[in-house]
Amino acid sequence: MTRHFLDIPDLSADELALVLDLSQRQQLPRPLEGQGVALVFEKPSNRTRQSMEMAVVQLGGHPVYTRGEEVGFDVREPVEDIARVMAGYHGMLCARVFRHEVVVRMAVVSSVPVVNMLSDHSHPLQALADVLTMQQVHGPLAGRTVAYVGDFNNVARSLTEACVMLGAQVSLGCPVGYGADDAELERMQSLGAGTVRQSHRPADAVAGASEVHTDSWTSMGQESEKAERVKIFEGYTVTPALMAQATAGAGFYHCLPAYRGLEVAADVIDGPQSHVIAQAHNRMHAARGALAFLMGVR
Ligand code: CP
Ligand code: NVA
Repeated sequence: MTRHFLDIPDLSADELALVLDLSQRQQLPRPLEGQGVALVFEKPSNRTRQSMEMAVVQLGGHPVYTRGEEVGFDVREPVEDIARVMAGYHGMLCARVFRHEVVVRMAVVSSVPVVNMLSDHSHPLQALADVLTMQQVHGPLAGRTVAYVGDFNNVARSLTEACVMLGAQVSLGCPVGYGADDAELERMQSLGAGTVRQSHRPADAVAGASEVHTDSWTSMGQESEKAERVKIFEGYTVTPALMAQATAGAGFYHCLPAYRGLEVAADVIDGPQSHVIAQAHNRMHAARGALAFLMGVR
């Protein structure tokens, strides 16, 4: 059966642990030898493009980067035609899209694995790197409190899912109207041994946390809302004072790109508690583990 990776729960908890293990192995086979991998981007990227291209090369494959406008999902031709055609050229199809339904529709018709490289709904490759980094910094996540302060977006959703599956206690701190709704909290809570709680007060959210995450308040595609969001998220900046409310030695994480002075103070992201560069470097290792898993490496 062709496996796809559109969301973290596409993996079982055991498979998630295996992907994290594969991500850290010194030696992997080259399951993409002689095969292409399509990397289609409807939005800009630094980390995802660079890390995916290198992961594909390290697994023996040839990455083919394509801008979204060139293929024109549902503009130049239907998503299904694009996916069926590309599946004949490549061992894997990867896409960064505005609408999550595009990667879902690709997966329905594709004979090769489809990978979500970020959608409006989720960012599973980022979450793999996030949990890999936290494990390297502080050890296993089970029982630890992982806080996320800011917008409950694609990054927050995938991070929460991965943390719950690994047994962590996730603590979300989001403004009213920008958090997870009750059904979403319940769904995420049901994914594993961990727990999820949500507060509208950042200080409550980080209490007891050994790991503090945030992301930009305005995601790609929401630029017209930026001025309004900057007002709504006032008070949600991760400052040194907020970090002091977490446990001593708590780590700071951000998927990047970061906006200093908005979601995070420069003193935090550029300070000793920050792990953002290791986290970005882990995007490549996590991608290599995920792609190897999808190609059948165990
Ligand atoms: N974190 C992340 O996905 O970065 P890019 O948008 O640069 O790929
Ligand atoms: N939430 C952000 C993540 C960027 C990597 C966005 O979607 O723009």
